[in-house]
Amino acid sequence: MRIGLLTSGGDCPGLNAVIRSAVLHGIKSFGDEFVGFRGGWRGLIEGDYMALERQDVRGLSRDGGTILGTSRTHPYRHPQGGAENIAATMREHAIDAVIAIGGEGTLAGARRLAADGLPVVGVPKTIDNDLKATDYTFGFDTAISIATDAMDRLRTTGESHHRCMVAEVMGRHVGWIALHSGMAAGAHAILIPEQSVGMEQVTEWVEQVHSRGRSPLVVVAEGFIPEGTEEAVADKGREADGRPRLGGIGQWLAGGIEERTGIETRSTTLGHIQRGGNPTGYDRVLATRFGMRALDLVHEEAWGHMASLRGTEIVKVDLAEALDGLKEVPAERYEEAQILFGR
Ligand code: F6P
Repeated sequence: MRIGLLTSGGDCPGLNAVIRSAVLHGIKSFGDEFVGFRGGWRGLIEGDYMALERQDVRGLSRDGGTILGTSRTHPYRHPQGGAENIAATMREHAIDAVIAIGGEGTLAGARRLAADGLPVVGVPKTIDNDLKATDYTFGFDTAISIATDAMDRLRTTGESHHRCMVAEVMGRHVGWIALHSGMAAGAHAILIPEQSVGMEQVTEWVEQVHSRGRSPLVVVAEGFIPEGTEEAVADKGREADGRPRLGGIGQWLAGGIEERTGIETRSTTLGHIQRGGNPTGYDRVLATRFGMRALDLVHEEAWGHMASLRGTEIVKVDLAEALDGLKEVPAERYEEAQILFGR
């Protein structure tokens, strides 16, 4: 078969490992041929691609980013997009199937194209870990490792000055990155979008820690909505797709903490550093297994499905299942972490 790969949406450590394993598995096991579409769905729509031979994917699993480039182009909103046009482009370039590697938006596009009769399968990726129907996505472990390291550093400088340190992490509308990195770094408070917490509670935790001679570390997810406010802070405008570009809650919180407690407070936003650099060993393995399974899905003609992690198994799931809302942090997981907050 002649198979096209594309990476779409925000990049994520592990994308290259998926590309490598799908290509190697296809060449070695089935004698497939591969092309890589440049810039996500845009490359597929415009027929902009590169050949992917065995030597093109050599050593790729350790590299961050994506060799194919990515974009937030929507397959139905591009002027030349839509199922009919894409099917015609695929015919023109003799592409038998497409493996779309991406998050919620990308997989929603893949699902719609498959429903419209196109041979498309998916691979889930996101540092946010917010996709249903898979226990974890690659990129998440790398983000946790980077954020934990950053917080360890914030703690040593915080302790030296006896300051309160606030760390803002990504995650969009879920708190997985905040919860896991905050737990790993021994944060004194973790604030996530799924749980509304008021400033009174936050300052109580901060004061308890400070009064026993420690420097409080508060970890806040970018999508956290403080009690009494309506929406997450998004002071950087909107994405191309209209979604608010989240960010700014850390600064807002630091101001509030300092004003209410008199404790000198500093805020750090980790931002895209969480998405950059090379994937961890765990993410390389997960991404490699996802890529191989996606290739099998193509040969099974399991259009509209994706590779997914269930326990330790890589399984096939319907994209509809993965897109049925966001995978939020369950209340029990927050309550468990909360036992160690403050005092
Ligand atoms: O979905 C991954 C993610 O990194 C989110 O955590 C974050 O809100 C968003 O993407 C940032 O997107 P961009 O790279 O477009 O600024």
